[in-house]
Amino acid sequence: MEYRHLGKTGIQVSELSLGSWITFKNQVDVDAAAEIMAAAYDLGVNFFDNAEAYADGKSEEVMGAALKKLGWRRGSYLVTTKIYWGLYKGVNEKNTLNRKRLIEGINASLGRLNLDYVDVLYCHRPDKTTPIEETVWAMHNIIEWGKAMYWGTSEWSAAEIVEAIAIAEKHHLHKPVTEQPVYNLFERKRFSGEYVRFYKEHRYGATTFSPLDSGLLSGKYNTGIPKDSRASTANMDWLLESVRDKGKLAKVQALEPIARELDCTLSQLALAWCLKNPYVSSVITGASRVEQVHENMKASEIAPKLTPEILKRIDEIFAVKQDEDED
Ligand SMILES: NC(=O)c1ccc[n+]([C@@H]2O[C@H](COP(=O)([O-])OP(=O)(O)OC[C@H]3O[C@@H](n4cnc5c(N)ncnc54)[C@H](OP(=O)(O)O)[C@@H]3O)[C@@H](O)[C@H]2O)c1
Repeated sequence: MEYRHLGKTGIQVSELSLGSWITFKNQVDVDAAAEIMAAAYDLGVNFFDNAEAYADGKSEEVMGAALKKLGWRRGSYLVTTKIYWGLYKGVNEKNTLNRKRLIEGINASLGRLNLDYVDVLYCHRPDKTTPIEETVWAMHNIIEWGKAMYWGTSEWSAAEIVEAIAIAEKHHLHKPVTEQPVYNLFERKRFSGEYVRFYKEHRYGATTFSPLDSGLLSGKYNTGIPKDSRASTANMDWLLESVRDKGKLAKVQALEPIARELDCTLSQLALAWCLKNPYVSSVITGASRVEQVHENMKASEIAPKLTPEILKRIDEIFAVKQDEDED
């Protein structure tokens, strides 16, 4: 496993990491979660991602119980969580980054995770109504109180992040250090376009999510929806259109000869493609079983095989002109 600095920070994160969205609680219990995390940790993963909203807080409970069971040294791993959507419908409790919500939110998350602090606390989405200054101050205080080591953003625009950094600089507060954006072969435009200049200038970190587009890029949906897959899990109706999209499936199939040439699986190829982007700090993977972890973590070995010629062929499949990406 290779490690990359999280943006400008001194912290190094495994270039492949593991998240718990959809899987923990919905698909796997504490014992299975511990096995999946242990498989990742044994292969060098040191970064585990979560959010208060995942399984309505239960994903944090599962990860907390799994960590207790695993008994790892706290310094040997990083845990992250995110706040925004909230667990309740009260007017100040949902879709907000107000000070009260953030502080109540981190306290509740730490309780569920059974941890004294998280390593990165993300604002899960931008809040268009709370002044960014209020959010920056609250995140600064949370760090000062030792409840989080760093803070970051998720799916904020470059302009919102620049504003947050400017406010923090003006008041000598802790700045956000990393974004958590979607990034995969289908969803690359914002990361490779809007964000690039900003990553260059600010050396902001990027812990990217859904590298397999919820599993689609593994090829598992090429011949229908497998019974034990994410798309067949309860309440996943929103995913059905994507995994049945003929245009997307044709592109995944067109990747198969390249994967064969490189002697790797489609999942490894799609993950390796994310790793090739130098602005990525860590690619957050998801796994519903141990075998997927074993397969996916080998992507690090495939990334060096992605020559400019191979990358060009991949771009052609996804109909991206080389000069469309700024990176
Ligand atoms: N910040 C945000 O807003 C945000 C949003 C989404 C995700 N995230 C984070 O990013 C993490 C990863 O996102 P994601 O789970 O969507 O990642 P993904 O890699 O796009 O999808 C992971 C899912 O694909 C399937 N899969 C994984 N490896 C496979 C393999 N080798 N062969 C076949 N199927 C495979 C598994 O589902 P099945 O086996 O069930 O089919 C797995 O749970 C999340 O856990 C979360 O921490 C953040």
